[in-house]
Amino acid sequence: MDLGLKGQVALVTGGSKGIGKAVARGLAQEGVRVAICARSKASLEEAAQELGKATGAEVFAVAGDLTRPDDVQRIVDATVSRFGRIDVLVNNAGAAPGGEILDLTEEDWQKALQLKFMGYVRCIKAVIPHMQRQGGGRIVNIVGNDGVKPIGIELSPSAANAADLAMTIALAEQYGRQNILVNAINPGPVATERWGQLIGGIARMRKISVDEAQQRAERSIPLGRICTPEEVANVAVFVASPRASFMNGAIITLDGGQRKALLD
Ligand SMILES: NC(=O)c1ccc[n+]([C@@H]2O[C@H](COP(=O)([O-])OP(=O)(O)OC[C@H]3O[C@@H](n4cnc5c(N)ncnc54)[C@H](OP(=O)(O)O)[C@@H]3O)[C@@H](O)[C@H]2O)c1
Repeated sequence: MDLGLKGQVALVTGGSKGIGKAVARGLAQEGVRVAICARSKASLEEAAQELGKATGAEVFAVAGDLTRPDDVQRIVDATVSRFGRIDVLVNNAGAAPGGEILDLTEEDWQKALQLKFMGYVRCIKAVIPHMQRQGGGRIVNIVGNDGVKPIGIELSPSAANAADLAMTIALAEQYGRQNILVNAINPGPVATERWGQLIGGIARMRKISVDEAQQRAERSIPLGRICTPEEVANVAVFVASPRASFMNGAIITLDGGQRKALLD
């Protein structure tokens, strides 16, 4: 199926690793010119080179920290100066400290909301004027199933994700009439560097081994395994494409049917 993305321009945040890199690769394979951003310039440039070489698409690296409003504006400006437009924003760079209510500090909460929620807010605010000028665009928020299946040991990510989902639905309603479609994808566990850190934290909190925590995570998913970054990318690329032309305000669960209660 031709997704109709050829020639479009996308900005993928957190595109140097994990899910973001897989999404950037998927878009580049469809002939999209892709800008990727992350904090570490070296790994970002390495990823851009690798993806450009593998797909033949133009992949542009622009380093910056999405917790800093000035960096976000600079990243969006640099993308528009390079490619002239932004058709697709994939909000993906995010992380929030795990932990229970009695352990999470004020600083943990600030950190959780600063990137996973406010980072998404800032990027959306910076791209909307360009999408309005162009007569439309797509915003795909990679969120996480904690936002609808919250758990006590992942309280701050659950809350930040729920805030992202509320924003997705509200903006879909507000901007749909301007042909700016906003959707969210909620993965469960995905095999990335971040998952390695998350599962270590879960094992410590539950006082079990990392192997046991991993087995519980796999058992909680009827498919018996965790997701791959490419499986998230396949859905994200479709949602970003003209083929998903009637999808707006959708919250797409992509967790293999995970039952969180089985993590206990
Ligand atoms: N992996 C999972 O199990 C899972 C499950 C559900 C949802 N998610 C969500 O999916 C998204 C991607 O997760 P992932 O597992 O692929 O993460 P990852 O492997 O840790 O990659 C995160 C990416 O974001 C960048 N990044 C981190 N902080 C940043 C900042 N302040 N400013 C700019 N870029 C930043 C990182 O590069 P630098 O470090 O160089 O900045 C990297 O490119 C996250 O929003 C996460 O919450 C993941």
